Amino acid sequence: MFETLAAAPPDPILGLTDTFVQDPRSDKINLTIGVYRDESGLTPILKSVKQAEERLLSSEKSKGYLGIDGLPEFRKLAGELTLGEWVEPERAAVCQTPGGTGALRVAADFLAKQTPHARVWCSTPTWPNHNSIFESAGLETKAYPYLSDDRKSLDFAAMFELLEREGRAGDVLLLHACCHNPTGIDPTTEQWSELAELAGQRGMLPLIDFAYHGFGDGLDEDRRAIAEISKHHAEFFVCSSYSKNFGLYSERVGALLAVCPDHTIAQRLASNIKVSVRSNYSNPPRHGGAIVAEILGDAELREQWLVELAQMRGRIHSMRTQFVEAMKQSGCAVDFSFLLGQRGMFSYSGLTPMQVDWLRTQKGIYIVGSGRINVAGITTSNMATLTNAIAEALRT
Ligand SMILES: Cc1ncc(COP(=O)(O)O)c(C=O)c1O
Repeated sequence: MFETLAAAPPDPILGLTDTFVQDPRSDKINLTIGVYRDESGLTPILKSVKQAEERLLSSEKSKGYLGIDGLPEFRKLAGELTLGEWVEPERAAVCQTPGGTGALRVAADFLAKQTPHARVWCSTPTWPNHNSIFESAGLETKAYPYLSDDRKSLDFAAMFELLEREGRAGDVLLLHACCHNPTGIDPTTEQWSELAELAGQRGMLPLIDFAYHGFGDGLDEDRRAIAEISKHHAEFFVCSSYSKNFGLYSERVGALLAVCPDHTIAQRLASNIKVSVRSNYSNPPRHGGAIVAEILGDAELREQWLVELAQMRGRIHSMRTQFVEAMKQSGCAVDFSFLLGQRGMFSYSGLTPMQVDWLRTQKGIYIVGSGRINVAGITTSNMATLTNAIAEALRT
């Protein structure tokens, strides 16, 4: 039956990691995949997570199915963490999902069914899975400009102008709440306010991808997009991920938060979301959601988690600063100080595909073809190897 089936291309990022694993060089460096790494190059399990797991191990009584929309305690706490003081809890339909990807896919399925003519506007560039997820669900995706021509800053004027001209009522405006992937460049609070107002005037539905809550400037600061959007929109969606900020990558925990004008609409919407989930994966896995609920619901564990989150954020920030300084010290003619304005794990380095290729083949340094680097993959011990190699790549 499948004799003539052609092989699908490997995932551009996960495929590179496979090549990295097979690379025999001992000083190889992987700056591709979007996971946090500590100073020793490991993706750690947070102490707060371990403690929560110990508690769960001794208190858990059943592995029975969760409800279609997940653990009630998780949903309540996720709602508070994300929507906080701006949205009354009864106005939000919150559904626990398998990761942020699951939240995006559930949102996409729901929108494809309810608003099949909606077009989903994605930034150029964006996380490549955005287009795949919405297109797989049957929705059309459209691109809005984001990065300026020098690839160092946000081209807000171009973004605004295109959305103002082409955005239609009922379209979906997909935004990254903070730590934009892949550029690390976020709008300012004023720009968020202008965008929120524009989307409101055009009748567009904001859908906020919140994969890096707490990795930018802080838990509250990273919610500035949500603060501004909630002022102008009675309806918007947030797709949250707890993969990065709780280090729960493989536990697959996320949430779709659909904000509605009132409780009645929220209930009706929630029932439709459940229909999408039921015919997809039926109900979410328990463990990750239970860990998040255990931590957020306990003052001591929450405090411990906040400290650990601040440490991860601080290390990323420090690596970014040290990288810029080390590039300066290497005598490189290119000034990398534009990276200091970027936030989160990713940065657009400005390296060309040829330079990226040279770094991989000649030096065992793995960077995505677009020049995106995972700053969290840099450590004090690989800094000199990395910056010297980049300086050489830029010379040759
Ligand atoms: C922008 C963005 N959205 C969503 C996700 C999905 O996160 P998860 O691993 O929780 O599915 C990622 C993960 O890399 C991401 O970068």
